[in-house]
Amino acid sequence: MSQTLTLRRPDDMHLHLRDGAMLEAVLPESARHFGRAIVMPNLVPPVVTGAEAAAYRARILAALPEGMAFEPLMTLYLTEATDPKDVAAAAASGLVRAVKLYPAGATTNSQSGVRDFDKVRGVLETMAEIGLPLCVHGEVTDPAVDIFDREAVFIDRVLDPVRRATPGLRVVMEHITTAEGVAYARSGGADLGATITTHHLVINRNHILVGGIKPHYYCLPVAKREIHRLALREAATSGEARFFLGTDSAPHADPLKENACGCAGCFTATNTLSILAHVFEEDGALDRLEAFTSLNGAAFYGLDPNPGRITLTKGAAVAYPAKIDTGAGPVTVFDPGVPLHWNVGG
Ligand code: NCD
Ligand code: ZN
Repeated sequence: MSQTLTLRRPDDMHLHLRDGAMLEAVLPESARHFGRAIVMPNLVPPVVTGAEAAAYRARILAALPEGMAFEPLMTLYLTEATDPKDVAAAAASGLVRAVKLYPAGATTNSQSGVRDFDKVRGVLETMAEIGLPLCVHGEVTDPAVDIFDREAVFIDRVLDPVRRATPGLRVVMEHITTAEGVAYARSGGADLGATITTHHLVINRNHILVGGIKPHYYCLPVAKREIHRLALREAATSGEARFFLGTDSAPHADPLKENACGCAGCFTATNTLSILAHVFEEDGALDRLEAFTSLNGAAFYGLDPNPGRITLTKGAAVAYPAKIDTGAGPVTVFDPGVPLHWNVGG
C-alpha cells in the first residue's frame, strides 16, 4: 500500500511572482499547489501605494489560468516616503496584508528601500496600531560587514532596536538563514514570526561554492554553514507556531543567473512540496509538515486555514522539469540534489 499524506492546502508566505510574461509562466507553478501567497512587491518600479497593489493584484488574477483558484495576499514596498494614511486605508480595505521592509541595497530591486530607519517611524507606529505585519528582509548593507554575518548583525543593529522602539509591531523575519535568526525568533512572543525557505533547508554554502560556482544555488540571504542549515531544519520541523513556510521562490531567466554578475534567487515553486515532504520525512517530522506549510502562517496573518486539501503520495521518482519556459526566457527549477518520491496529487 502506498504511503499518503493529506494536508490542508498550503500557503506560501513569501513569493516573487514578478510581472508580465514571467508572471504568466510562474503563477501556475504556485497556484497548482498553494491556496494563497504573500506576494512580494519588489517589482520595477516597486509596489508602493495601495493603488499600485490593487493594480498588481488585478494583473495577477488576470494571469491565473481558467479553473485555477489562488488568492494573492498583497504587500506594499516600504519607502522613506510611504504615507501612513495610504497604508492604513489599504489595510482597512483588506487589500494589503503586510508591508515589506528592504534595507536599501540589500537584495534584488531594493534600491527604493529604507536607508534611515527614523524616516519610517510614523508608518511603523501606524502599523503597530492597526496590527499590520512588517515583513523584514533582515540583512545589513554595511560594506564592512561580511555577507555571511549580515543577518546576525541586522538583528542586533536594526531589528531589535526597531522592535523595542515600536511596541506592538507585528514582525515576520523573512527567510531566516542562521541559528541566530532562529534564536531571535524564539525570543519573541506572538507578535514575532519567521519564514523559512525550502532551499535553505536543503543547501549550505558548500553547495554554492565547492566544485565550481553554482549560480542556481545563489540567493539572498546567501546560504550559510551547515550548522545554520541544521538549526533551520530543527526550527521548521518543530511545529512551533512562529515558524512557517515562505518559499522565497524567486525566478530569474537563466542568462541573468548564469552571468558574470548573476542575480540572486532560487526558483522552487515547482517542486517545493515534494522537497519539503522529503525533508520532513528525513527528520521524522511528517506529522508536523502541515503546521509548517498550511497552519502556522495562516494563523500569524489572522486567516483561517484553506478549506481544501492536497494529498502527497510516496512512490516513483517525482517527474518535474529541469527548467520552465517563460516568455522572458528559461528558468531553472531548484535541484535538491536527490531524487524526490513524494508526488503531489497522485
Ligand atoms: C529575491 C528576488 O529575486 O526578488 N531574491 C532572493 O535571492 N531571495 C529578493 C529577496 O527576497 O531577497
Ligand atoms: Zn524574497
